Amino acid sequence: MSSYSYEELCERVANAIAGQIKIKSDSCLGLPTGHTPLGVYRYLSEWSRQGRIDWSKARCFALDDYLGTSEENTFHYYLEKNLYSHTNIRPEHKFNPCHTDDYDRLIAEQGGLDLTILGIGGNGHIAFNEPGTIAASWTHCTFLNQSTRVANQDSFGELAHVPTRGLTMGLATILQSRWIILMANGEKKKTIVENAFRGPVTTDLPASLLQKHPRTDVWTDFSLDFSFPAESPALV
Ligand code: PGA
Repeated sequence: MSSYSYEELCERVANAIAGQIKIKSDSCLGLPTGHTPLGVYRYLSEWSRQGRIDWSKARCFALDDYLGTSEENTFHYYLEKNLYSHTNIRPEHKFNPCHTDDYDRLIAEQGGLDLTILGIGGNGHIAFNEPGTIAASWTHCTFLNQSTRVANQDSFGELAHVPTRGLTMGLATILQSRWIILMANGEKKKTIVENAFRGPVTTDLPASLLQKHPRTDVWTDFSLDFSFPAESPALV
């Protein structure tokens, strides 16, 4: 499978989001935070400032957020700073699991997720669905694995300040999205991506459940010796 540079990967994902909004102006988007999508948000912000994307009908749903942290460490703040503030998205179309009692119902009322962008944790988590999360999970409160807390500690200064709990879309929530793009950058994610998409489907590696999803694309900035989804077999 051909690989892209990080910039190309981000531009490709940003194009997918912009294209989705163009095709369906009131699209519901599931949006990640973390290091991986920062370049995507840079592209989207720039194109939005240039008036090339109209977010006025789009709905954005944060995949997850921390519980028990200061405002500037929340994913709501991250999305506001890195994306929303550069767009014309309406305040009432910015959704976060911490701001509602029933996120899944809200998502359904808005028409369901059209496109969800995912990163992948070093332990195979998607959103804050840590290994062992049941496949039938809807939005829920969860304890964060130590490896997740360590990976996210830069913005907190020290590990002790990283929250221990989060609210996250569940695996069932994510798997209901009509289209999913999992993006991964950096060779350090190669083995977990290979295990998730070449290995068995198991809740011990939550991203592997995406193998069962009818429309998931895996895009990386490192080379893999397979494509997901597999290339269509040549016609004979
Ligand atoms: P990262 O996180 O983008 O900061 O590597 C990905 C994730 O934990 O889902």
